Amino acid sequence: MLKRSLITTQMFALLISLPWGVSSAADAKAGEERATQVCAACHGPDGNSMAPNFPHLAGQAAGYIADQLAMMKSGERMVPEMVAFVADLSPEDMANLGAYYAAQPSKQTAIPESDIEAAKRGERLYRGGERTMGIAACTSCHLPDGKGIPEAYPRVANQHLDYLKKQLLAYKSGERQSRGGIMNNIAFMLSRQQIDDVSTYMHALK
Ligand code: HEC
Ligand code: HEC
Repeated sequence: MLKRSLITTQMFALLISLPWGVSSAADAKAGEERATQVCAACHGPDGNSMAPNFPHLAGQAAGYIADQLAMMKSGERMVPEMVAFVADLSPEDMANLGAYYAAQPSKQTAIPESDIEAAKRGERLYRGGERTMGIAACTSCHLPDGKGIPEAYPRVANQHLDYLKKQLLAYKSGERQSRGGIMNNIAFMLSRQQIDDVSTYMHALK
């Protein structure tokens, strides 16, 4: 119980002290032009992408999008495919793009029959964490419906399965660094099986 309340306290401290966020002046209309002309090639015009290696951005937390764009521009997150597209973005452009995608509806994904068992195991981990390993429940930051908590905790619901697995593996290996190491510490403790299961669950979350 004590451990749980500590985690909760830390979480709220983090929520309040997050240094980044989207400015209230963010303009979704201004973001739309670049999104539909430049980013659409990979992420789809409305942020629902066709290919599993390009993440969906529709319905994603605006501040998270702006923050990841800043990390990609500074090289803290290495995404070779995106280097050319972030170089000329100002913080204002990033906030506008975030505002545009946050306002787009995310499309739902159906889960194949063969994945139901894996999704059930994933659901237990997502909702309950893993007490013996000290893994926090994913719901505490990504919420039970997986829609995340703006501005910093991303939506994970309905994301491409392959993309989710790849990110958890990258956090685990340290190839992708999250702010404050939050996701690195969590993914480090997840087994390959747990990563597959919880990704299957998140991908089908509605
Ligand atoms: C040539 C294809 C391509 C184009 C064009 C492109 N992206 Fe990406 N983007 C990617 C890939 C690939 C990834 C994911 C890489 C990975 O697996 O980590 C990504 C990741 C992202 C992410 C991180 C999503 C998350 O959930 O963490 C954001 C935000 C993003 N792109 C926004 C944009 C914006 C805004 C533009 C236009 C200015 C853009 N992208 C243009 C290929 C592209
Ligand atoms: C204490 C809060 C917290 C908890 C608990 C948490 N996450 Fe996260 N998660 C975050 C934050 C913050 C980010 C964005 C980090 C970054 O890369 O800067 C994130 C990012 C992610 C991403 C990448 C999303 C994307 O679009 O690229 C995935 C996938 C993810 N988390 C899955 C999980 C899973 C699965 C669990 C439970 C086993 C979990 N998270 C528990 C805070 C949390």
